Amino acid sequence: MSKTRILTAFFLSVLLLSACQTAGNNVNRTAPSANEIPDRKWWKEAVIYQIYPRSFKDTNGDGVGDLKGIIEKLDYIKSLGIDAVWINPIYASPNKDNGYDISDYENIMQEFGTMQDFDVMLKGFHDRQIKVFMDLVVNHCSDEHRWFLEAKKSRDNPYYNYFHWWAKEKGEPPKRWSHFDEKADAWQFNEATNSYYLHYFGDFQPDLNWENPKVREEIYKMMRFWLDKGVDGFRMDALAYISKDPNFPPMPESYNGRWSMFYADGPKLHDYIQEMNREVLSKYDVATVAEAAGDVERVMKFVDPTRKELNMAYYFEATDLGYLPNEFKMPDPNGVNLVDLKKIYSKWNKAFEERGWGTTYLANHDQPRITTRWGNDSPEFREISSKMLTTFILTMPGTAFYYFGDELGMTNIKFDKIEDYNDIEVKTNYAQVREKGGDLVRFLEGMKISARDNGRTPMQWNSTANAGFSNGNPWLKVNPNFDKINVETAEKDENSPLNYFRKVIKLRKSDERLVYGKFAVVDDNNPDVFAYTRELNGKKILVLLNFKAKESNSNTGVDLGKTKVLLGNYPEASKDGKLKPFEAVIYQLEE
Ligand code: GLC
Ligand code: CA
Repeated sequence: MSKTRILTAFFLSVLLLSACQTAGNNVNRTAPSANEIPDRKWWKEAVIYQIYPRSFKDTNGDGVGDLKGIIEKLDYIKSLGIDAVWINPIYASPNKDNGYDISDYENIMQEFGTMQDFDVMLKGFHDRQIKVFMDLVVNHCSDEHRWFLEAKKSRDNPYYNYFHWWAKEKGEPPKRWSHFDEKADAWQFNEATNSYYLHYFGDFQPDLNWENPKVREEIYKMMRFWLDKGVDGFRMDALAYISKDPNFPPMPESYNGRWSMFYADGPKLHDYIQEMNREVLSKYDVATVAEAAGDVERVMKFVDPTRKELNMAYYFEATDLGYLPNEFKMPDPNGVNLVDLKKIYSKWNKAFEERGWGTTYLANHDQPRITTRWGNDSPEFREISSKMLTTFILTMPGTAFYYFGDELGMTNIKFDKIEDYNDIEVKTNYAQVREKGGDLVRFLEGMKISARDNGRTPMQWNSTANAGFSNGNPWLKVNPNFDKINVETAEKDENSPLNYFRKVIKLRKSDERLVYGKFAVVDDNNPDVFAYTRELNGKKILVLLNFKAKESNSNTGVDLGKTKVLLGNYPEASKDGKLKPFEAVIYQLEE
């Protein structure tokens, strides 16, 4: 054999051998390879940044954020590296529940601007490859909506049946509870029709009657209006509540008084959502996220793809942790039990690994600031704990929802007086405690941790008056810590929570394990450290998060000395499992 032929044979056999090895790997492999990931979707890979428009940026000095303000900040939003925004309701509204009481679904709230502003904003996002989710609020509308103004005139009005009524001659209406009513009574009497209308939220938020096919058709038409404009998705507010048995039977004993769970299980709920899918959603490239109360089995119904309903589930079990039972959002003095939190995420993510798709979030406009509630807002730990929580949200399974201002490590404002609050929810609950002769001081202390307005204070852009949010008088007080905590200052600091947020997003975007990787909690019973792996193709990432303001030990059985640190929130990441207060580390495990 000539020398060349020997060499060729040698190379050929090497090639053959490595081909066999690859094949062997294929046989043994448990996780799918990157290009085998079933059912890739943009919305699974997206990081969604939530904008509360009222508090984002005011451009005309009336103290209320507006669409022009969002337009002004498009480049900032783009700079974060996010893929989509969810904007809270911007439709015409008397604003008694800050836009969740809609008086015209196809117009823009005057305070926020015009339809033209909307079109410019939408284009601005799309030009920057950012998708836009609108808030769809269709369980109820405003009592100033044209439909209700008509309906309340007389029983023969064609709009009367757009709402749920209980005729006076039938006697007292069956017990129904309301979220935003001092007497917690969901029936409100109306003279002209001699009947009571139903409102699961405030008495200014009458529930729409989904039993009426005309109502459903109006809603679908309205959804098409926005989709035809180019909107990319809907976050569906209180959607689980839409179906009601018009006979209003008593709540079954099995609910154990949990009326909100009872409301979320109406008889035709899924028929309606499937109809909405057939009539509207299936005809567009649109992503949907359901605000869905209930246990895994129930919530799964919204997002099991074989049922053809919605895409993502936004569930509450995790964010409901850490409160005392049978009281309105009173923080448990023992704080959040981390072991319970891990159990919750294990349970839900196990279910979503089989079917459907979940979300991970810790904050939104109904929640306080993450740094105060889940971290520690003292000067010593504010930044580090906020970075740890950012790591958590962006390395967990499911689509990541991130609330504006959390990228700065903004904190709860902690109002001392009820007069400082704007929110209907906290005011209603305050009135209820007062009515019962309860401890109002204790109530207000609790609200410093949990009230919704803590997360609604204006965005802190710089250290000028009103944090650069407005030249006027802001609709809700600006957190006085804006002189230190603001975008301008954070931009200049390479290690700020803002720049850390950008880094974690970049990592998530560059590593599919953080989106499609299998999730497993390790060191389950550790009360201080949340540790988990994300695995794809047999390759693992390990995330260690110290949720405590003290040094904590993790025990994962992994030799951290042999890992590569992908990112951490301290300059020097732990290599022995001993974690500094609120330390967060993302490791790449040895292959
Ligand atoms: C949802 C919204 C909340 C609103 C309520 C009534 O829970 O997130 O802000 O108050 O529905 O629409
Ligand atoms: Ca304004």
